[in-house]
Amino acid sequence: MKDILVRSGLLRGVVTGLLLAPSLMAAAQARQEYLLTSDWKFAKGDQPAAQQPNFKDAKWQTVSVPHDWAIYGPFSSTNDLQKVKIEQNNEKQATTKAGRTGGLPFIGTGWYRRQLTVPGFGPGKRAVLLFDGAMSDAHVFVNGQQVVVWPYGYNSFFVDVTAALQASGPNTLAVRLHNQPEASRWYPGAGLYRNVHLIVTNDVHIPVWGTYLTTPEINADYAKVKLRTQVEMPAGAAPALRLQTEIRDAAGRVVATLTTPLATTDGHTFEQNLVVPKPRLWSPETPVLYTASSKLFAGDQLQDEYETRFGIRSFTFEADKGFSLNGRPRKFKGVCNHHDLGPLGAAINMAALRRQLTLLKDMGCDAIRTSHNMPTPELVELCDEMGFMLMVESFDEWKAPKVKNGYSQYFDEWAEKDLVNMVHRDRNHPSVIMWSIGNEVPDQSTAGGGKIAKRLQDIVHREDPSRPVTMGMDRFDDDIKNNFASVLDVPGFNYKPHRYPEAYAKLPQGFLLGSETASTVSSRGVYKFPVVQAKEQRYPDNQSSSYDLEACSWSQVPDDEFVAQDELPYTLGEFVWTGFDYLGEPTPYDERWPSHSSYFGILDLAGLPKDRFYLYRARWNTTAPTLHLLPHWTWPGREGQTTPVFCYTSYPSAELFVNGKSQGRQTKTTTGMPQARYRLMWNEVKYEPGAIKVIAYDAQGKAVAEEEVRTAGQPHHIKLVADRTSLTADGQDLAYVTARVEDAQGNLCPEATNQLQFRVGGAGRFRAVANGDATNLELFHQPRMKAFQGQLVALVQTTNQAGAVQLKATSKGLKDGIIQLQTAKTAAK
Ligand code: GAL
Repeated sequence: MKDILVRSGLLRGVVTGLLLAPSLMAAAQARQEYLLTSDWKFAKGDQPAAQQPNFKDAKWQTVSVPHDWAIYGPFSSTNDLQKVKIEQNNEKQATTKAGRTGGLPFIGTGWYRRQLTVPGFGPGKRAVLLFDGAMSDAHVFVNGQQVVVWPYGYNSFFVDVTAALQASGPNTLAVRLHNQPEASRWYPGAGLYRNVHLIVTNDVHIPVWGTYLTTPEINADYAKVKLRTQVEMPAGAAPALRLQTEIRDAAGRVVATLTTPLATTDGHTFEQNLVVPKPRLWSPETPVLYTASSKLFAGDQLQDEYETRFGIRSFTFEADKGFSLNGRPRKFKGVCNHHDLGPLGAAINMAALRRQLTLLKDMGCDAIRTSHNMPTPELVELCDEMGFMLMVESFDEWKAPKVKNGYSQYFDEWAEKDLVNMVHRDRNHPSVIMWSIGNEVPDQSTAGGGKIAKRLQDIVHREDPSRPVTMGMDRFDDDIKNNFASVLDVPGFNYKPHRYPEAYAKLPQGFLLGSETASTVSSRGVYKFPVVQAKEQRYPDNQSSSYDLEACSWSQVPDDEFVAQDELPYTLGEFVWTGFDYLGEPTPYDERWPSHSSYFGILDLAGLPKDRFYLYRARWNTTAPTLHLLPHWTWPGREGQTTPVFCYTSYPSAELFVNGKSQGRQTKTTTGMPQARYRLMWNEVKYEPGAIKVIAYDAQGKAVAEEEVRTAGQPHHIKLVADRTSLTADGQDLAYVTARVEDAQGNLCPEATNQLQFRVGGAGRFRAVANGDATNLELFHQPRMKAFQGQLVALVQTTNQAGAVQLKATSKGLKDGIIQLQTAKTAAK
């Protein structure tokens, strides 16, 4: 067994099961945490008695975890085919939806098994298994004995397996997962798609999520830090315990210390109040972190060690003033995201998450809603580090169903347990600003729905009184009439900018949130003519136009929300649907296979920015200018035809030239039609090949920047551009390499569909490829794919060997593209 030892008294790194040197074992005895990543056996389909230790799994596939069994396909319209009427989309009759959940084979049962040798385990020790998420309906067995069941696939859960483990090992760990059909509105993923941890402690120990840290008072001179630490010990034991806590700043300097005896009140909680002098505050712009390191002693003996990373920040939601962070008013520049990582499926990967956040950061985004479920813990950690505010969401369904086999079947028994785990896991993170108890639950309209909302909010308050509760509401009239919206700390409305004034007038809170906004649809690099604003627009090729004027019957284009947010001081900001395209929910082509991934993303499924990226960037990124032109300018056959040109820019005005001829200067307006306030538009431009160019002017009228788009010639070569060229040789890290089909002059060939092949040499391996085309049925893990609108993205993964990696892309008739990457043992970011 080769597990990754992630935390222990003194050790960090990789150890090999029982081969851990005894001297090191002694030093590391207080606490050891392993990631169970390798040597798993997996089989699809139910297997009688697969939980038994003597079950023969030699023929099963060997996989590493995180693992999504369904992402390898193949795609089929019959995978989770749903004949449904989607009420929240105002549908009047049931129709057949083939791509609703992504068209991937995630339905059914899957088994995972592995051997478990637990170094250092024995009398006086405890062992816990912690699952960050398992899709879904997990039944976990140790040595044939069922130790825990957890239905909700998005939540983290843990179980003490001390009694089921044999110290002499090896032990057998088996996990049965089962996904029902018609259980989801999107692609959920399948399998052990998040990490599994093994934690070994002493009998006297701090349990999983055993600390709760708040910062009740913050000013320029000091911050009060209140740390509550739980201790568990065998029944009847009452050792004299003390907890020694040190707070370290980001540079590792100790800034506060305190040693506290165990309070006699309840016998298992330490309460420590520390003071950090001259605190540096956490914010999206300054994501400063501190760490509270606690050592638990019985007499002179170290019993446990526990680290709580935190940030110091305060926020308020105030009537008529809205949201303030550290005393400064601001509005959420947020996106909603699903959990899948495009071509990787639901299997989490740090580099993939970090890349998403890096792209969102560049857009100026400062907040994420984890729609509509608990995120992977790595995302929360990265948001702490990189500076994003989180709305952590729990449910898409309560008691009243949206889909046949959704969470409603578990709600009564599990909702409280699920909320408790969600809050306990994430309540020490500075990035978490709000909890969401649900999204568009049909219970908004049912008698008693308001009571459920109150009960769920109370549970969350009980576990964490320091943050407000919100939810995404879509049934406006019912929410007001049934006293549903008035119950919530923060009323969140989905797609209701036109009704904000009414909500403000009728609700007691004095502020409201655009919890889900826009749902504009577009395909990267695809432009349709004539250019008209439309709802539910469909085209024969199953694509949507990138002029950003198309939305759903219930949704809007970005500018409509901008106007409401800019004009109404009590709005708290918005969470756009969505940051990235995701698998499933291919609206407006829900009924038109092969569409099987979304069109809502600001970035496509490969993570390539659509034009809309620049519309948001121009508004949100206040530190770097934006100047972006659309459409592309390669339109053979459109000569002389009207081909509108839009410019998304942070500058107030610009002049457009077509082949050097001025088309006039446009300036953003402050009133009037929404688009004219946020976009510069030349609607009457006649196409002629050559070049379009804008010159942008600042507020003083000075020409400050220019941007040009040229007509492309024939596809000539493949250009490769990596997001990072220095990687970590840990077997996990990823480079995202964009492949562009270019003409001889280096212009993107914007309609190119060339089939590209990939080969990776050296210390790396090909991992996946995606082109962002929602209709594409080519498999993500095969090293070939057609370019979509001239581009695609290939993912190269490192091995455990440091060295040079070469990615080569070839295609018939094109000059090869080659790029060199370098991997090293030391961490690269
Ligand atoms: C909302 C829903 C989202 C997504 C979106 C698409 O109503 O909350 O999950 O379905 O519509 O526009």
